[in-house]
Amino acid sequence: MKNLLVTGGCGFIGANFIHYLLSEADFDGRVINVDNLTYAGNPENLTDLPEDALQRYHFVKADICDEAAMAKVFDDFNIDSICHFAAESHVDRSIVSPDAFIQTNVNGTFGLLELARRHQDRLVLFHHISTDEVFGELGDEGAFTETTPYNPSSPYSASKAASDHLVRAYSRTYDLPVTISNCSNNYGPCQFPEKLIPLMILNALEGKALPVYGDGTNVRDWLYVKDHCRAIWTVMQHGRRGETYNVGGRCEKANLDVVKIICRTLDDTVPPLDQGRREALIHFVKDRPGHDFRYAIDCSKLERDLGWTPAESFETGIDKTIRWYLDHRGWVDRVISGEYQKWIDEHYH
Ligand code: NAD
Ligand code: TYD
Repeated sequence: MKNLLVTGGCGFIGANFIHYLLSEADFDGRVINVDNLTYAGNPENLTDLPEDALQRYHFVKADICDEAAMAKVFDDFNIDSICHFAAESHVDRSIVSPDAFIQTNVNGTFGLLELARRHQDRLVLFHHISTDEVFGELGDEGAFTETTPYNPSSPYSASKAASDHLVRAYSRTYDLPVTISNCSNNYGPCQFPEKLIPLMILNALEGKALPVYGDGTNVRDWLYVKDHCRAIWTVMQHGRRGETYNVGGRCEKANLDVVKIICRTLDDTVPPLDQGRREALIHFVKDRPGHDFRYAIDCSKLERDLGWTPAESFETGIDKTIRWYLDHRGWVDRVISGEYQKWIDEHYH
C-alpha cells in the first residue's frame, strides 16, 4: 500500500484515521484524501498534520459519485489501495431526506468498486468502513457477530447494508481483494455536533436543553475513535481478504447514562451554570421513528485473530473527548456558526 486513497477523510473518523496513519502507524506511503466537503467535511480537521506527514498527504475535492474525477485520481496518483469512509452518516438526516444516502452510500460505493475492478492488476486492497447498524436492533440480550443476518432499520443503515453487500459481491464474483469492518458508535475529537455525544457536550456547556429521545433507555456500544482507527489499520494490514471484522468497545451504555456522565463531568470541570447542575437540562423528546433499541458488538474475532483490543475505557475516552471540545473553542465556533463552510466556499468554489 504505497498510494492509499482515503475517501471522506475530512469527516470525523476519516480525519482521525489520516492523523493516525501519517503520524503513528507503521505506514510509509502517501494518503490521497478525496472528499467533496459536505456539511460534515471540514478541512480544518487536518490542518494540524505535522510537517513530515504533510509531505505524504494530498487532498482532492471531488465527489466519489463523479466517475471522471475519480478515474483521474486513480491515474494521477497511481492508486493501489482504498480505505472507503465517505458516506452520509447521520440517521436522523436519513429519515428526513434519504436521497443523498442512496446516492453516496450505495451508488458512490458501486462506482468506486467498478473503478477498483478496472485497476485490479495493481489493487492491493479495498477496505470498506461499515457500521453495526446493518444488523438491526437487539433486545436485552446477545451481541452481533460477523454472521448475524443483516436487518437494517433506517435509510442510513439500509444504504450501508447495500454497500456492504456490493463489496462482498465484488470479492466473491471478481475476486477483488476486499476487507470490511463493521464498527459500533464512535466518539472523540472532530465529531460533528449533530451526533449524541458532541451535541450533549456543547449544549450542556452553554446551558441549552439536552434532548433525549424517548425514555433514554436505548443502548449503544461506544468506542473511542482512535481505537477504531487502530482496528481499521490492523484489519487492512493483517485481515484475511474477503472477510469482515466486527469492531466494538465492549462498552454498552444507555443514552440517558451517557448524557448524565457528560453533565457530571462538566459540572466538575467548568464553572457552574446559573441554572444549577447540568442534569436539570435533560428533556425527554419525541422518539426517533424506527429507533433501534440496542446495539452490542461481539469483537472476539478481531481480538482473537488479529490481537486488537481497545485502549480506552469510556471514562478515559469521554474525559479526552470533553477536554478536546473545551480546548478547541475556535473549531466549535466555526462549525456552529457555519463559518467553516464560508471558508470552504472561498477556497474551493
Ligand atoms: P462524517 O459524516 O463525519 O464524515 C463523512 C465524510 O464523507 C465527510 O467528510 C463528507 O464530506 C464526506 N462525503 C460525504 N459524501 C461524499 C461524497 N459523495 N464524495 C466524497 N466525500 C463525501 O462520518 P463519520 O462519522 O466520520 O463516518 C465515516 C464512515 O464510518 C461512514 O462510512 C460511516 O458509515 C462509518 N461509521 C461511522 C460510525 C460513527 O459512529 N460515526 C460508526 C461506524 C461506522
Ligand atoms: P446518534 O449519535 O445519532 O448515533 P446512531 O443513531 O447512529 O446510534 O445517536 C446515538 C443515540 O442517541 C441514539 O439512540 C439516538 C440518541 N439521541 C438522542 O437521544 N438525542 C439526540 O439529540 C441524538 C442526536 C441522539
